[in-house]
Amino acid sequence: MPTKVVLGLQHGDEGKGRVVDDLVQTWADVVVRFQGGGNAGHTVYDEKGHKFVTHILPVGVLNENKFNLIAKGCVINVIDLYNEIKELNVKPENMLISGLCPTIEPVHLAKDKVKYQGRLGTTGRGIGPAYSDFYARDSILFKDAINNPQKSMSKIQEKFFDYQTYLAETYLIDLSKDEDIHDLIDQNFKAFNSWVEDYYSAVEFLKPYLLQKEDLIQDLYYQDLNILLEGAQGSGLSIYSTNYPDVTSSSPSVGEVLNSTGLNHNQIDEVIGVIKSYKTKVGSGTFPSQIFDNNANILADVGKEYGATTGRPRKCGWLDLDEVKEAVIQNGITHICVTKTDVMTHIDNPKYYSNKVFYDFAKIESVSIDDLSFVGLLDVIRKITGVNNISFTTGPKRGEIVWNTELKEYNDTKI
Ligand code: IMP
Ligand code: MG
Repeated sequence: MPTKVVLGLQHGDEGKGRVVDDLVQTWADVVVRFQGGGNAGHTVYDEKGHKFVTHILPVGVLNENKFNLIAKGCVINVIDLYNEIKELNVKPENMLISGLCPTIEPVHLAKDKVKYQGRLGTTGRGIGPAYSDFYARDSILFKDAINNPQKSMSKIQEKFFDYQTYLAETYLIDLSKDEDIHDLIDQNFKAFNSWVEDYYSAVEFLKPYLLQKEDLIQDLYYQDLNILLEGAQGSGLSIYSTNYPDVTSSSPSVGEVLNSTGLNHNQIDEVIGVIKSYKTKVGSGTFPSQIFDNNANILADVGKEYGATTGRPRKCGWLDLDEVKEAVIQNGITHICVTKTDVMTHIDNPKYYSNKVFYDFAKIESVSIDDLSFVGLLDVIRKITGVNNISFTTGPKRGEIVWNTELKEYNDTKI
């Protein structure tokens, strides 16, 4: 019955994966992904420090006793899905996928690479073009791919070849693009051929994973089960954000939980927002709290700030409480979990950003409620956002997390 939503309140990579993993170990029976696709990279280190990364699969698959669901707001590349399921050895008893998920086709991968990867710094996973086709009502849904693979393949081919023709015609119009376009068309063909080669075996393999009852979540809700809704990306990357067009094509929000899963707003019990104690961003666009001095390098090196999906270096900045506050209000956040403060202990003159102003605070020596600067930072977050329930992580590994700190009123003039 009880439900918790976990959302990122920055630009993704807040550490949602490990927060979700902790809730999987200690609380959740069911884990649901509700938006985005293989653009996500949720990293978990177990107790021994072994690293796991999930992209389209919910983090609950790392624990074989949990049930996972990929809800209809997610976009799915059946080949990548097949590979990820194989790699993590996930059984259909432990995971089902909504038949209404739009699929990502070779034409989407080609368009993303040709048009958006350079311009917007996308992950190149076909996310934007797949959502575009969904809203244009031109998607092949997951159930179509599973139930009618041949018919789906004809459509996949038609859409892909139409796009290749369009590219070739562009070449006829603009001869200066001659070689580039030829190479591009060639590369697209190669990628298409290898994708098509794996298609039939992938959809055959995925058959038992198809959700047969679209309103299953309501049945689960009325059973004695704890349901965890796992957000991907973060509010700053929402398609509805003022950061548009430097955003992804889905909405990492409570609104999307409702759209995607069929739970209603009365069925959401707690919304947990995850924030890093500093900020990072990959892809195009700067941000107000970006750091341009050596502190950015320290955060990037110590925090291993390289994309889990693309390996790209992330831009680093100070914690921006303006954006956090906005996300708190819009999503009704009642609980904040602060991650990676251990990384901030390497910074001599840390800052945060609020009301468009940078504030200094004292060096954090250790991530502990005995450290005045650390407690001061938590208190600033509490005061500015109005969220009293604060949790924090103390290190990267499973279990290194302190839930629901009771924060005493903190009055240090340094903060
Ligand atoms: P797309 O989602 O691949 O279309 O990429 C759009 C923007 O969102 C790019 O700036 C990506 O770097 C960013 N993005 C997408 N998914 C993630 C994520 O999981 N973490 C961080 N950034 C992401
Ligand atoms: Mg990530």
